[in-house]
Amino acid sequence: MVEILPFSPSDYDEVMALWQATEGLTLREADSRDAVTRYLARNPRLSFIARDGGRVIGAVLGGTDGRRGYLQHLAVAPTHRRQGLGRSLAGRVLEGLGTLGIAKCHLFVRREQAEAREFWERSGWTVRDDVTLMSHSDFAATNP
Ligand SMILES: CC(C)(COP(=O)(O)OP(=O)(O)OC[C@H]1O[C@@H](n2cnc3c(N)ncnc32)[C@H](O)[C@@H]1OP(=O)(O)O)[C@@H](O)C(=O)NCCC(=O)NCCS
Repeated sequence: MVEILPFSPSDYDEVMALWQATEGLTLREADSRDAVTRYLARNPRLSFIARDGGRVIGAVLGGTDGRRGYLQHLAVAPTHRRQGLGRSLAGRVLEGLGTLGIAKCHLFVRREQAEAREFWERSGWTVRDDVTLMSHSDFAATNP
């Protein structure tokens, strides 16, 4: 039986193994054990895993800056896809944000990930073509 549970720091190794095996998911320094542990502590009750018979077969990170919600790294193992699990995991993040009074959530999908985009659109998410994502990185050393 598949169970959805809170993502605890002790799940990290199993979730990382799932993420590493998932196509289209890019892992960086921000996904290190320390970084994910900090993220979970900073955003309690917003990230989830799914287990089937003890094995981690799904995961998602949810967080907020206190104003908007952000959803990242949703992954469902190929053996468990198309059973509504991806939608349920994403739904748990939105539910958690809702209890905090956060009414809008954003996520980023690479343009080439057509299937992921279809999944999100069919799950009620809207593609934004009125905004351009801009990023600034490598500034920590010059702005201590
Ligand atoms: C995207 C992903 C999380 C979907 O998980 P899932 O558990 O299979 O999704 P669900 O069963 O909840 O799907 C809900 C609906 O989305 C649509 N959908 C799901 N996967 C789809 C796909 N590959 N192509 C097109 N539509 C899809 C379907 O309409 C589906 O409902 P249906 O099966 O009744 O038709 C999973 O395929 C995955 O882990 N992919 C690789 C990682 C990834 O792309 N993550 C998103 C990063 S932005």
